Amino acid sequence: MTRVLAIQNLHVSVDEKKILNGVNLDVKPGEIHALMGPNGSGKSTLAHALMGHPQYHITQGNILLNGEDITHAAPEVRARKGLFMAFQHPREIAGLPLAHFLREAYVSRFGEKISVAKFRELLRILMKELAMDDKFIDRPLNEGFSGGEKKKAEILQMIILRPLYALLDETDSGLDIDALTIVTAGLKRFFGAETAIVIITHYQRILKFIEPDYVHIMMKGEVVKSGDKDLAHELEQTGFKHLSHDTKASRE
Ligand SMILES: Nc1ncnc2c1ncn2[C@@H]1O[C@H](COP(=O)(O)OP(=O)(O)OP(=O)(O)O)[C@@H](O)[C@H]1O
Ligand SMILES: [Mg+2]
Repeated sequence: MTRVLAIQNLHVSVDEKKILNGVNLDVKPGEIHALMGPNGSGKSTLAHALMGHPQYHITQGNILLNGEDITHAAPEVRARKGLFMAFQHPREIAGLPLAHFLREAYVSRFGEKISVAKFRELLRILMKELAMDDKFIDRPLNEGFSGGEKKKAEILQMIILRPLYALLDETDSGLDIDALTIVTAGLKRFFGAETAIVIITHYQRILKFIEPDYVHIMMKGEVVKSGDKDLAHELEQTGFKHLSHDTKASRE
């Protein structure tokens, strides 16, 4: 079995508007990728399309997960197969306690029952590691959570679901420096040879804590340049101005 998340010539539209224009990317277990690019270049759209969000229509191209075509699979099928996304703007879910939501997601992912008591115990241990107060266990998911608390709840979810391919959409935005240290330590503990992480970010800062193997730049719905961690550093110095669609040829 080929163990790779292969994104092949992906074209995506929302409401007839073309947003992605042929994205190609291979992500393999054990790799950390950073996806960067200006506001509105299509980074979140790519993540949503990979997760099967119904608003994002794949008009051309394929997504293969470990050799299996999931281009048009339902979101829950993708999640069960080990795809995960931490949202840039996590949704508030009125009336649904965090523990309840996470236990349902756990049962759906692994197909195994876990008692409420055992699951709450697991949550308490992981929340302690993430420096989250355990009163969050019974609070409705994300309702009234601060920006940083929402991001931590996303990472908690990720650690519990043990995805094979994790897409983190600006998980670093809104985290204070201590929270960033805690979250990245949690990510590192979770990360192993079985897991791939794609970090969507605007900042070098998180990449100093979790060093990427590859950095990709998206512009106008395409990956226009790929390189190693030095590319992120270079961007910090020069910005996106010198990059254009023409640099696509310089892709690895
Ligand atoms: N659901 C949607 N409805 C309408 N337009 C959308 C939708 N999702 C994305 N777009 C548009 O697609 C383009 C790409 O948006 P996207 O959110 O993918 O950018 P991004 O690279 O994640 O930007 P940022 O760095 O600001 O998060 C934008 O012009 C955006 O307005
Ligand atoms: Mg975005």
